[in-house]
Amino acid sequence: MKNLDDLVGEGVAGRTVLVRSDLNVPLDGDRITDDGRIRASVPTITTLRDAGARVVVMAHLGRPKPGQDNTAFSLAPVAERLGELLGAPVALAQHGDAARAAVSGQADGDVVLLENIRFDPRETSKDSGERAAFAGELAGLAGDRGAFVSDGFGVVHRKQASVYDLATRLPAYAGGLVLAEVEVLRTLTGAPERPYAVVLGGSKVSDKLAVIEALLPTVDTLLVGGGMCFTFLAAQGRGVGSSLLESDQVETCRKLLESGKIVLPSDVVVADAFAADATTRTVPVDEIADGWMGLDIGPESVAEFGSRIADARTIFWNGPMGVFEMAPFAEGTRGVATAIADGEAFSVVGGGDSAAAVRALGVGEAGFSHISTGGGASLEFLEGATLPGVAVLDGDA
Ligand code: 3PG
Repeated sequence: MKNLDDLVGEGVAGRTVLVRSDLNVPLDGDRITDDGRIRASVPTITTLRDAGARVVVMAHLGRPKPGQDNTAFSLAPVAERLGELLGAPVALAQHGDAARAAVSGQADGDVVLLENIRFDPRETSKDSGERAAFAGELAGLAGDRGAFVSDGFGVVHRKQASVYDLATRLPAYAGGLVLAEVEVLRTLTGAPERPYAVVLGGSKVSDKLAVIEALLPTVDTLLVGGGMCFTFLAAQGRGVGSSLLESDQVETCRKLLESGKIVLPSDVVVADAFAADATTRTVPVDEIADGWMGLDIGPESVAEFGSRIADARTIFWNGPMGVFEMAPFAEGTRGVATAIADGEAFSVVGGGDSAAAVRALGVGEAGFSHISTGGGASLEFLEGATLPGVAVLDGDA
């Protein structure tokens, strides 16, 4: 696939370059609580600006619904933060005439951010004709010498107008972030150094089944924490009290356990309510009483997971071990993150929540070989699924 260096080598001064970034960051009101994705998008935009391109960034925020008040999904806070990080103003342009005016007024090196690309329902339409029409309008913004750079790794698993269809309308290039992410993940699906340990957490086992099935034949150990571990514990015949349980997945989990590679927690932190001020206890997994819910893995489990992590030469981690946003249930995730960061293995953190947890818990990003910006995208990559936004750059779509 052609990449950013190729584009810069061709010459971009004075050309309008549309860049799809993933700037879908967590917000508390209009305060950005983790700007990791914005920071990760800066190098590609800076390279283009420095080469004299007129940069038009496209991105989504959340999942706005047509016909509703979508004010909370505005990219305004993101435009401001992106401007701070670039050291240059970023104009936020509404779709349609305002976008055309903003782009035609750009000087070389200027950056315009289009308002939430999902405000136009054609972006996510299942109808390829609708998507193509929207992609055509977007391509029109770039004019005859325009180009498209796909840099939003977190969204390449979506067949959407600004991710997929636009790449068929303009000369298309992989941005530095997409290239780096794909290269790292290919290391994991290729010949990872062994032992290869995967740590999975997060709430729902049903969301992770496909990746677990794909990973089991290749990994040496699969450490499971988070809400999803309770369905596995139930599959071992244990009572899980009021913990998260997907009853319809118990049988599937029982079959997965037959692999002998899955390691479950031996103790958990239970609470009498889903609240930061709930009464808590640490109990062995055999002793989760009725009315109590497991909200984190316990210290014995952290030690066991930590020793498996210390032995591994390659590690992939996706999903928190507990409800890390609440202090009483953050130690499992902190312990696992610290064990990975302190180890010598080639370590990849996959995605949104786990990456945010690393930063929120102050573990230090430097201890990890790679922190991916894509949660769903990295999991689908490891599943072996075709990622439309990557395949289209490879010319395989
Ligand atoms: C993400 O947050 O995983 C990406 O930005 C994709 O968002 P989506 O799941 O709403 O498509």
